[in-house]
Amino acid sequence: MLAQATVSQPPGIQPALLEEPYLLEIVNISKGFPGVVALADVQLRVRPGSVLALMGENGAGKSTLMKIIAGIYQPDAGEIRLRGKPVVFETPLAAQKAGIAMIHQELNLMPHMSIAENIWIGREQLNSLHMVNHREMHRCTAELLARLRINLDPEEQVGNLSIAERQMVEIAKAVSYDSDILIMDEPTSAITDKEVAHLFSIIADLKSQGKGIVYITHKMNEVFAIADEVAVFRDGHYIGLQRADSMNSDSLISMMVGRELSQLFPVRENPIGELLMTVRDLRLDGVFKGVSFDLHAGEILGIAGLMGSGRTNVAETIFGITPSSGGQITLDGKPVRITDPHMAIEKGFALLTEDRKLSGLFPCLSVLENMEMAVLPHYSGNGFIQQKALRALCEDMCKKLRV
Ligand SMILES: Nc1ncnc2c1ncn2[C@@H]1O[C@H](COP(=O)(O)OP(=O)(O)OP(=O)(O)O)[C@@H](O)[C@H]1O
Ligand SMILES: [Mg+2]
Repeated sequence: MLAQATVSQPPGIQPALLEEPYLLEIVNISKGFPGVVALADVQLRVRPGSVLALMGENGAGKSTLMKIIAGIYQPDAGEIRLRGKPVVFETPLAAQKAGIAMIHQELNLMPHMSIAENIWIGREQLNSLHMVNHREMHRCTAELLARLRINLDPEEQVGNLSIAERQMVEIAKAVSYDSDILIMDEPTSAITDKEVAHLFSIIADLKSQGKGIVYITHKMNEVFAIADEVAVFRDGHYIGLQRADSMNSDSLISMMVGRELSQLFPVRENPIGELLMTVRDLRLDGVFKGVSFDLHAGEILGIAGLMGSGRTNVAETIFGITPSSGGQITLDGKPVRITDPHMAIEKGFALLTEDRKLSGLFPCLSVLENMEMAVLPHYSGNGFIQQKALRALCEDMCKKLRV
């Protein structure tokens, strides 16, 4: 059933599940942002000792609901119930105190502070003189990391860690609250298969301790590996909640997109055109070597490899962020040497960076200003910017990309 819920009992839910006492219930919650209805009358229920996967396409409202549960946003309407009792979380601290911990979709650690300082921030252990007891903090952190089998030094600065290691620290931090409800918003977006297996064993432990886990992911295999139940949102609407063992990836995807799978990836003829770029024996000393490939018009070329194998470095070298130590790139048959991103953009390259929040966007500027940045030189001359044309172009792009 794909109909939207108008009553409090979700469609498609197995009757047996409704008899269980719920740890957390979301009842008819709505939330709007200027120009967007992020959540319209949504439901959700989490049982103790279970994993509820929350699925939905980008912008479905998953993170918004999680931030409401964690006291970051206030809902416009609706109710949160904890063990059957209505609660209002005016601050993240209030939600934390009530036993809710959250791993955010975006990494939120302080790079200039140690792992231990990051984990205990705001609840540092103090000594009898009311000073931070660093030794005790390090001891607790070492114990926590050992319990979770995370092999990191509590005193290491977070800024020195890889993205994957930072994500493991975020996981440890969330577990350290010893909360009854753990929300994990895409916790595996930056970690390798080995670490995913590790996280799943941590989740299995938490489950056996009776914790309720809300797990947000876009990865089908993860859902079927750990979820007991699956809830689906689409465009801010609650679509349904079912037992994971009653679904398969086809039925789940069609619930998410609201269409049959055959319509999702229609066959499109796309002839491969002429040779655009060749890369021969490209190398960056100490990082990668011997990278060669051809790229044709109309072609999508995938670069695969494990975390840390150098995929991003290859892209950054081609884009001139880290100029190559050797090898050759030709564009339309002519050799080129790209030594900075400015040059790469002039040659017709665009790069979507790996960590977009850190190196792809200016978060303090508007959407339009961010978009304009990339084409500014084409819309300026005589010391003036052609504001109107530039704005029209970017507004059009916003529409096309549904930003
Ligand atoms: N702080 C905000 N201000 C304005 N609009 C917002 C804000 N946060 C989210 N939105 C909008 O609300 C809608 C739901 O966003 P949300 O981040 O909850 O989606 P999501 O399901 O978590 O998507 P994703 O899978 O991409 O993480 C989107 O249209 C988004 O643009
Ligand atoms: Mg999200």
